[in-house]
Amino acid sequence: MASILRYFGYLAEDNRLDEATGLTDRQKRLVQNTWTVIKKDQVNSGVAVMIAYFTKYPVYQQEFQPFKDMPLPELPANKKFQAHCANIIAALNSVIDSLHDPGLMDANLIMLAERHKNRGQTEQQFQDMKQVILDVFRQILGKQFTPEVAEAWNITVERTFSKICNVLAN
Ligand code: HEM
Repeated sequence: MASILRYFGYLAEDNRLDEATGLTDRQKRLVQNTWTVIKKDQVNSGVAVMIAYFTKYPVYQQEFQPFKDMPLPELPANKKFQAHCANIIAALNSVIDSLHDPGLMDANLIMLAERHKNRGQTEQQFQDMKQVILDVFRQILGKQFTPEVAEAWNITVERTFSKICNVLAN
């Protein structure tokens, strides 16, 4: 009996919604587990995001002083570009790592947004990156991107970008 109660207690906790992140404990675990797959190959995952972003919105490549005049097909092999892409995944890693501590997560996002704001980045540029990130994560994760995982990532990406956009807009 006790073990059955514990079982149901565990389930209740698993489905508890954390208002601050919009995620249940189970969804946080899904995000963190699939994130380990994405960050394992930090360079290639970051390159996939940035190449997909520049392919869909070529004008945004012009924002990146070190890479703005390079032909797109040459970027993935460029070491400076690889380093930049790895930095993006590292920054996202701090965000995902702090899902258990929404205050820390917000602080990470606000600092990231402020650095971008100081360089002149706009809300629209971030809004346009949202779907690109989700599409690339779907490609990387393949069969692991189940509808449940997709829902957890949708919420995470939506919250992340809305926090960043709030800073950029004000
Ligand atoms: C969640 C998405 C993003 C993350 C995690 C991210 C992360 C980073 C990081 C870690 C840096 C290194 C310097 C710093 O920390 O500020 C950086 C630089 C930069 N980011 Fe982002 N970024 C994101 C989205 C964007 C978007 C949408 C744009 C718009 C075009 C952008 C434009 C830039 C530019 C222009 C630089 C400076 C590059 C250079 O001159 O070396 N970023 N980003």
